[in-house]
Amino acid sequence: MRSRLTVIVLLVSCGLSRATMQMAGSGATPATAGLVQCLQGAGASVLTQSSDFTTYNASRQVWNEKFQRNPAAIVYASSADDVQRIVRCCRQFDVNVSPRSGGHSYEGYAVEDGAVLLDISGINSLQMLDSSHAIIGAGIKLGPLYLGLWQNGSRAFPAGVCPAVGAGGHLTGGGVGLISRKFGLASDQIVELEMVDANGNLITANAHTNSDLLFASQGGGGGSLGIITSFTIQTYPVPEMVTIFTTNWDLSDTMPTLGWWQEHAPAWPAELGTDFQVFSSNAQFSGMYLGPSSDLMAILNNTGYQDLPAKQSEDFQELPYIAALLHNAASSQGLKPAEDINSLALGPGTSVSGRSFFKAKSQLSNKPIPQAGMQLIQDAFANEGGQGYWQAHAQGGAISALPVRVDLKELGRPAHPSFCPSSSRV
Ligand SMILES: *[C@@H]1O[C@H](CO)[C@@H](O)[C@H](O)[C@H]1NC(C)=O
Ligand SMILES: *[C@@H]1O[C@H](CO)[C@@H](O)[C@H](O)[C@H]1NC(C)=O
Ligand SMILES: *[C@@H]1O[C@H](CO)[C@@H](O)[C@H](O)[C@H]1NC(C)=O
Repeated sequence: MRSRLTVIVLLVSCGLSRATMQMAGSGATPATAGLVQCLQGAGASVLTQSSDFTTYNASRQVWNEKFQRNPAAIVYASSADDVQRIVRCCRQFDVNVSPRSGGHSYEGYAVEDGAVLLDISGINSLQMLDSSHAIIGAGIKLGPLYLGLWQNGSRAFPAGVCPAVGAGGHLTGGGVGLISRKFGLASDQIVELEMVDANGNLITANAHTNSDLLFASQGGGGGSLGIITSFTIQTYPVPEMVTIFTTNWDLSDTMPTLGWWQEHAPAWPAELGTDFQVFSSNAQFSGMYLGPSSDLMAILNNTGYQDLPAKQSEDFQELPYIAALLHNAASSQGLKPAEDINSLALGPGTSVSGRSFFKAKSQLSNKPIPQAGMQLIQDAFANEGGQGYWQAHAQGGAISALPVRVDLKELGRPAHPSFCPSSSRV
């Protein structure tokens, strides 16, 4: 059966009205001395506006600079035990707590005015459980996660491209990337998790224990259900060499090239993950193929790639899988220095650029964008230019396959799909 098209449309408009940013100092509810004392006793470092404003001000920043919110206090946890004690303090003093893993939420959900910002980036361990499963701290970032899995048996994990995204929000909100059509969403790979609940208790969710909580966390997470401290995830083997590619056309060729892409992308083999982007001066087709470039070229040629309008540029590279991830991380997030795969660890000496002021909006479509819609996209960029871009991800493949929850069936319940919007099964 031919899978239908599923695209996520991302509309981003960057860089403009910094002048409207709310400055630190306004709108904050200061932490009471009692709360601060309780948090300090929880063994975590605590920052408040009055204790060390400069560090507090830097630490409250998230990926989207638009959100200048003022937490009552910022605390750094390095273990599940720290998280439990911090949550109990917040309960005792009746203050909200917002967890932050990587802080990449487009709407800045990790930081809330007047709440305790609980940063779990220090809970970032990685350990292989067996040859195909890993236990990871929920504060690990994707770059170190990919590198660690690669260094522990050449394993891969299907999730996003940006290396500084934290696992906590990403895995519980769906998690799409270039190998998702082959292996499924990041959410679908969670086999077990540990979570601190609102009472400060550490609970486990898997197919047998708290299975509803596991189901809810596979798309409905992001800190709403509790604070996840670790995940047990499924990992996969990938071919030694993969192909990554980028092809550009002039903006005026958007309609025929986007039309071609959305016609063919859903039916390409699951080994081929692709995106289509439109910028103010060009249209771009890019992706990753889990195999050699000659096989990829044959797939593209057989679906009319050579008949498209003249290309501005075309770049196909066969690389070891981990080098391909590094290449994409470097081009999407300015990861420097990018020559050495160890830069994916994001350790000292590497920097990730790109915190910025933006608005992003996304939407799922299970049918092709009509001619009039493509015309609108092309005209918008031709007439208005600007720094924004439009991006569509082809889904289908394993993303569309209903993961069969064998264990839930054993419990006498129906099998559920994950319920995040991006995993709508079409
Ligand atoms: C707080 O940090 C932001 C972001 O770096 C900066 O723009 C702002 O000037 C800082 N505020 C103060 C009062 O230093
Ligand atoms: C597993 O990965 C970690 C983190 O990258 C690394 O330090 C360690 O050496 C690896 N272990 C093995 C057995 O490869
Ligand atoms: C694809 O088409 C191009 C241009 O016609 C040709 O050079 C190339 O050899 C073809 N590749 C494959 C694998 O069919």
